[in-house]
Amino acid sequence: MADLDDIRDGNNFGVGIPVEGQSFYIKGHDHAGWGLKNRLANMFNKKSGNSVMLAFDHGFLMGPTSGLERVDLNILPLAPYVDVMMGCKGMIRSTVPADCETPIALRADAGTTILTTMNDNVVMDINEALAMNAQCMAVMLSVGCKDTEATTVKNLFTLADKANPLGMPVMGITAVGKDMVRDARYFGLASRVCAENGANIVKTYYTEGFEKVVAGCPVPVVIAGGKKLPELEALELSYKAISCGAVGVDMGRNIFQSEDPAAMAQAVAGVVHDGLTPEQGLEKFNDLKG
Ligand code: 5RP
Repeated sequence: MADLDDIRDGNNFGVGIPVEGQSFYIKGHDHAGWGLKNRLANMFNKKSGNSVMLAFDHGFLMGPTSGLERVDLNILPLAPYVDVMMGCKGMIRSTVPADCETPIALRADAGTTILTTMNDNVVMDINEALAMNAQCMAVMLSVGCKDTEATTVKNLFTLADKANPLGMPVMGITAVGKDMVRDARYFGLASRVCAENGANIVKTYYTEGFEKVVAGCPVPVVIAGGKKLPELEALELSYKAISCGAVGVDMGRNIFQSEDPAAMAQAVAGVVHDGLTPEQGLEKFNDLKG
């Protein structure tokens, strides 16, 4: 039982000192609940407001692609250099140590592989994601693909309904529908559809006019890297996206297929967090390489 004698009255209430800036630093989430904000804050650096997410979920669609043959050897050493690791439940459980300090974003949908038609129609149970201490659940939307659009929009919509009240953010990934032109109009539409259907973060692709994609999306936007580019071009892509208002990257191949993935992860972080130009980022890459 607590002591009942010597209960001291508080006398340090800071009377007259206003409580400082309570506006939350992540776009569109002032009114979210504490748990959801806390998870988002674990993913986005408080100083820069940005995030370098390392995507290594590709295996669920394409198997052991180059750079992902051995996640224990190729990906785990990169964890200290990124803000978030994004992967699938099977790889995370089997290979990522439970004491990994880098927050986990879970790729939460599945269905088919690159060998057939893209159609992610199964979504992971929210309880399983909570039990894995995931910081967010990521599902894909194929806007403009007539066979799969409805299923994938429903996936996001119903997941956001279940996940958000439990404090779990959802990331909507805009897969490019067949026959779609990869321009700002398309990515602006797809990103907005993600946000309107409940996504807390949108992952999409950089394109000319990207500032309009970001401005029209009421929640944070990060970009995917896409196929492997020379290091300077990947840094330029990151720089241009950040300059247009994106708050980071969720990048895979341009990091793990680099000739020096650890150096590249740090160079991308220099651009995303420290305002390095692509040329300065490349200098950092060359300094760290090898
Ligand atoms: C696949 C994904 C990947 O995580 C995404 O494409 C990022 O990887 P990359 O930078 O290699 O494109 O969402 O559905």
